[in-house]
Amino acid sequence: MLHGDVSVELGRRVATALKTALDVDITPAEALVRPSNRSGTDYQCDVAMSLGKRLGRAPREVATDIVTHLDAGDLVETSEIAGPGFINLVLQRTWLEQHATALLGDDRLGVARTERPRRFAIDYSSPNVAKEMHVGHLRSSIIGDAIARLLRFEGHEVVPHNHLGDWGTPFGMLIEHLVDEGWTAAAGHDGHTISDLNGFYQEARKKFDADPDFATRARGRVVLLQGGDEQTLALWQQLVDESTRHFDKVYELLGIDLTHEDIHGESFYNPYLAEVIDELEAKELTEISDGAVCVFPPGFTNRDGDRLPLIIRKSDGGYGYATTDLATVRYWTRERGVTDLLYVVGTPQAQHFAMIFTASRQAGWLTNEHRAEHIGFGSILGEDGKTIRTRAGGSVKLVELLTEAIDRAAAIVADRSELGDEERHAVARAVGIGAVKYADLSGDRERDYTFDWDRMLAMDGNTAVYLQYANARILSVLRKAGEAPAPGTPVTLVEAAERDLLLKLLQLPAAVTSATETYLPHRLCTYLYETATAFTAFYERCPILADTTPEDLRRSRLVLAQLTSKVLTLGLSLLGIGTPQRL
Ligand code: ARG
Repeated sequence: MLHGDVSVELGRRVATALKTALDVDITPAEALVRPSNRSGTDYQCDVAMSLGKRLGRAPREVATDIVTHLDAGDLVETSEIAGPGFINLVLQRTWLEQHATALLGDDRLGVARTERPRRFAIDYSSPNVAKEMHVGHLRSSIIGDAIARLLRFEGHEVVPHNHLGDWGTPFGMLIEHLVDEGWTAAAGHDGHTISDLNGFYQEARKKFDADPDFATRARGRVVLLQGGDEQTLALWQQLVDESTRHFDKVYELLGIDLTHEDIHGESFYNPYLAEVIDELEAKELTEISDGAVCVFPPGFTNRDGDRLPLIIRKSDGGYGYATTDLATVRYWTRERGVTDLLYVVGTPQAQHFAMIFTASRQAGWLTNEHRAEHIGFGSILGEDGKTIRTRAGGSVKLVELLTEAIDRAAAIVADRSELGDEERHAVARAVGIGAVKYADLSGDRERDYTFDWDRMLAMDGNTAVYLQYANARILSVLRKAGEAPAPGTPVTLVEAAERDLLLKLLQLPAAVTSATETYLPHRLCTYLYETATAFTAFYERCPILADTTPEDLRRSRLVLAQLTSKVLTLGLSLLGIGTPQRL
């Protein structure tokens, strides 16, 4: 059975034909073979157009050479030249039929494992201690989780790390305030919500601005914290523990598998900071500017043309965000041997990461073997087109948002008494959380998107619940049929709708690979939506369980239905979205 993308396989054949006919070397991807949307054609190959120009020959002639030398009789029925030099390819019906049967026995549904597995460190979620997680962290968590799943499925090693904001000046202020409030290192202070901590944080901030004596003490407290003072560390630990309990709750609700082991907060890199600076200084990459130690990575200037610094050590001796991020690159490449670093962080930090990567290349922490990429994303907007806020104008609390999603989904399935309470609850969760995740993942991540309950929970359109519903409907047909199609069940393609559906199912490998390689999960969403739509057309035109459907055709159609369900289930699972058996 063919593993991987059919268009890549066809591209390989075209490349071989070109080699034989014209002694031209191209890669399968350069053969420009893609699914065609013209009726009567399955795939089209456009390489003759560009190649003609390059070789100084008429594209039609090049296309004729390709078609004459094409060795693809095992899977291609016809190859015809159209217009100025396009090649239209029609796959063999028997090849398609046999492939469908083979897919039924393949857990990976034709998706190949990568031939070059890499080791990825991926930074996602990364909220701040003693602060409410906000919608930016929601996006990072959802997108990061989907990318991690996609990469793992392709066969890469993935190490998630949660870069908690748990260090630096704000914590001196916060801890000093808590001491004023009577917190001690010994006493437990459980039972605070994240809002309490958020409140403490705001009080501390106010005090810091208004009371110079407090400000001095707070600065002293940072020194104690960074120097490892035991009492201070114990208080700090309490704050971190209270906050991570809250983050765990959000991850649990979201079904995102980030554990305490994955936490590598800013504090984790503290012991490495001095070495980072030593190395940068030894390589003569630092300069003193306004009393601070800075690195000026080449190519970054402000509007006036002044070079932009990464501040490595502030004039007061403290380290900042950039220092920690340099230490992060150094740690993951040196100590953990990763080849790829991904950072799923909002687009406003794009320049920060670009500067970090450039400086890390100068320092030799990133080499040609390494790839580092900032996976940016836009904001979530409210219905007014501005960054989403609560009615009272505060920032939206994630737990409340996710709970509301589940409640709204519960209302959709409230009248389904046949499901029983427990199943109904599980379905509401899968639908509600699925809606939030899919709304986030189905648009190009670089763009902002508008948070709209009605749209994300619509039964029609490109939504999670539409896909979940399509899948549940298939499962219900399979249940009614009495048994799932046995492995090896032959498939017969009669109607165009059957063929169209199968051609769509064959595109799963292409969709998965393209979403993974570009870190754009929406490409997989679009594909799943097209698949569900092709299924709907098939289901309308091709009766499965009707008495008039002959037995072998009924079995064949059950195979197509079963495959569709498997594709939807696998695809949604790669996005971190559940598929209820009944809906
Ligand atoms: N805690 C930061 C924030 O909330 C995000 C951290 C992203 N990761 C990093 N390595 N800088 O904005």
